[in-house]
Amino acid sequence: MGRIIIFTGKGGVGKTTTAAAHGVKAARQGMKTLVVSTDMAHNLSDLFMKEIKEEPVEVDKNLYALEIDPNYEMSKYYGSISEAFKNMISFKNEENEEAMEDIVVFPGIEELFSLLKIKELYEENIYDLIIVDCAPTGETLSLLKFPELFSWYMEKLFPIGKVAMKVLRPVSKIAFKLDMPDEAAMNDIEKLYVKLGKLQELLKDREVCSIRLVTIPEKMVVEESKRSYMYLNLYNFNVDGVYINRLIPGDIDNSFFNQWIELQKNYLEELQSVFVNIPIYKIKWYETDVNGIDALDRVVKDSLEDDHIFDVLKITNNEVFQITENGYRLDVYLPFSNKGDFDLFESGTDIIVKLGNFKRNIPIPNVIRKYSIASAKLNNDILSIYFE
Ligand SMILES: Nc1ncnc2c1ncn2[C@@H]1O[C@H](COP(=O)(O)OP(=O)(O)OP(=O)(O)O)[C@@H](O)[C@H]1O
Ligand SMILES: [Mg+2]
Repeated sequence: MGRIIIFTGKGGVGKTTTAAAHGVKAARQGMKTLVVSTDMAHNLSDLFMKEIKEEPVEVDKNLYALEIDPNYEMSKYYGSISEAFKNMISFKNEENEEAMEDIVVFPGIEELFSLLKIKELYEENIYDLIIVDCAPTGETLSLLKFPELFSWYMEKLFPIGKVAMKVLRPVSKIAFKLDMPDEAAMNDIEKLYVKLGKLQELLKDREVCSIRLVTIPEKMVVEESKRSYMYLNLYNFNVDGVYINRLIPGDIDNSFFNQWIELQKNYLEELQSVFVNIPIYKIKWYETDVNGIDALDRVVKDSLEDDHIFDVLKITNNEVFQITENGYRLDVYLPFSNKGDFDLFESGTDIIVKLGNFKRNIPIPNVIRKYSIASAKLNNDILSIYFE
């Protein structure tokens, strides 16, 4: 079984560098490795100093690189879908303002096709390891939550039984009046829908997919890393590694850096205390930018020697249902969230946890559906929802 490791983090922190260095290490170890970029502003070509396109190109022994072009993927495989979506989005429904709003945010579907491509590559089973170099955090998160959001749309939009309901949880009661896409498109949508269900499964499969956070010891980035970690947990992805990049070497002989070294030391300590349960790798700030395979090799030798680095480094269970005296309890792991941050709703067969701009539908198992939410509390980063 192959593995997928996804690198994410704020803009410019070193995601591409770290991802590519892992690629170089894996290839050297004899793993057939693919480094994939989903960032629209691709830069694997620059890094490997070789032209990289929308199909994998060999950049070194055992090492392949690919820059996904979502538009290419979409037109190649799902031609009739874009039309169907345009038609669907244009309908109106006065009674359901909230649902309407959600439908309007549909643009961004391109991002989804990058992930579908990764799923396909994984299923082709050609590579031992697929390394994903993501776009900066904001976009990555929307990318990761997209399959969830998409399933939600489909459930709201299509009457029961019409679309591949076999693989998905039951549909909500909201009935929309809308133009149904023609049959050709419908089949594509159906296929896409099934694929999305599987994509979600794949990305959340702890044995297959690891998410690794890249960060640097600076205030804004540290804060954003904490937030990303929270959202990634909210969406039930397994974050099992943190990379702290651009650490100024301690032996540097230049007084200009004295204060920087002190500042970095504080943020490093903060990061270490925050990610205490997750392996942390430190990468120093080099004299020049990191370009080409030799430079990446150096990063590997200095920081990524861990023999187990491609393994699942840690498994977090973000959602646990437990039986209580009066019913059930759902524990959701939400690191760094505050009491005031989230809202909780019940909607048909789902619990909806809303955190800032993020909303997650957690499907409720059948046995719990006859209970209702009695209370919820946040304790030690765990949101406990009581069903009674
Ligand atoms: N430890 C380091 N020492 C020196 N230069 C570095 C280091 N890490 C990254 N760089 C350089 O910083 C620049 C940005 O790094 P990189 O492209 O890996 O970041 P990124 O997170 O992928 O950025 P983006 O968000 O734009 O995709 C590159 O020129 C890279 O060579
Ligand atoms: Mg990058």
